[in-house]
Amino acid sequence: MSQRKKIALIGGDGIGPEVTREARELLVLYRDAAGLPLDLWDLDLGADRYLRDKTTFPAEIAVAIQRECAAVLLGALGDPRVPGLEHARDILFGIRFGYDLYANIRPVRALADRLVPLKGRGAKDVDLVVFRENTEGSYVGIGGQFKRGTPDEVAINEDVNTRKGVERIIRAAFEHARAHGKRRVHMADKSNAMRHAHELWLRVFDSVGREYADIERAHVYVDALCLYLVQDPSQFEVIVTNNLFGDIVTDLGAALQGGLGMAASANVHASEPGRVAMFEPVHGSAPPLAGKDVANPFAALLTVGMMLAHLGWPDEERRIERAVSLALDEGKCTRDVGGTLGTREAAAWVRDVVARELRAD
Ligand code: NAD
Ligand code: IPM
Ligand code: MN
Repeated sequence: MSQRKKIALIGGDGIGPEVTREARELLVLYRDAAGLPLDLWDLDLGADRYLRDKTTFPAEIAVAIQRECAAVLLGALGDPRVPGLEHARDILFGIRFGYDLYANIRPVRALADRLVPLKGRGAKDVDLVVFRENTEGSYVGIGGQFKRGTPDEVAINEDVNTRKGVERIIRAAFEHARAHGKRRVHMADKSNAMRHAHELWLRVFDSVGREYADIERAHVYVDALCLYLVQDPSQFEVIVTNNLFGDIVTDLGAALQGGLGMAASANVHASEPGRVAMFEPVHGSAPPLAGKDVANPFAALLTVGMMLAHLGWPDEERRIERAVSLALDEGKCTRDVGGTLGTREAAAWVRDVVARELRAD
């Protein structure tokens, strides 16, 4: 098999294409200046394409990605012209569910003191990672509507939790903790109210956690987790939770690290890392910012770092992080994080730092 790594790029909607373009340029730099064996494959998918010809996520593309690609880089999906978001769900869930990428890994790391909005807290207090279950829970689409549009209407989305699904994400969190020298894993659920579905999480957390005697396991209800994250985020190292709670908690986490423009993520099949994986900033398509060159590209650049680490170049994740930190220190960043630059300029500044370092190596 070829040693080259093929990467599919889907810019998507709103600010997605703007930040993905900058992330793509960073990959091009790595390919051309550092000689990384990367092949880029640009895919025209998203709201524009859907509105043109009703294409969402064609089966032949899905199969080709799975066969040929090491990774997918996704911008964001969601466009007010497609109010039902059918294209967004087909593409995003087509990738997450279709490739069984059960671990949505979302680091919450502040790269500058001033980005932490909590009084008396700084970057040293915000360094945790959320393991969000990514293939089941309330996202599976099981349910329906009945008597829609009448006063008697019923709307149901089931919260589906399987032993296998819960166990593998909890195990992934403990494995990560062990590999990174972390002392504690928190599991967040709502087992006091959801006593069937979430009691399973409690039991599995206990039994899997016992296999990791060196790591402390702490249970926390998700509502209290939100409280504690704001009061003192420094007590958290690894948090594992379900699909819906992970979505919500990582937007809160993004606020602790300077906003959604700073939050990166990976979607992986943690026990078979050779499978295609997907990387995306945590943020959405931010329609009001689209086309104005104001979106923060750093989440997308940091996401490239996560991708390169996953593909076997862990030093590059740290290098990109250092370059972004420097940009923040020098004010070479967008307005949301205290700078004056546009999307293109801020990203180009970071790439220049990376390029200089690569030349010096
Ligand atoms: P959003 O993430 O687009 O925006 C939330 C807030 O964060 C807004 O104030 C926005 O201006 C700000 N923000 C987001 N990214 C930013 C960036 N890079 N730089 C500066 N500010 C940034 O969330 P939303 O408004 O709830 O959703 C908009 C659309 O995006 C919806 O259609 C939603 O479904 C979709 N969405 C998609 C994804 C994805 O594809 N992965 C993720 C989240 C939301
Ligand atoms: C995210 C997003 C998605 C999610 C939406 C767009 C379905 O909010 O990736 O955080 O809920 O997973
Ligand atoms: Mn979200």
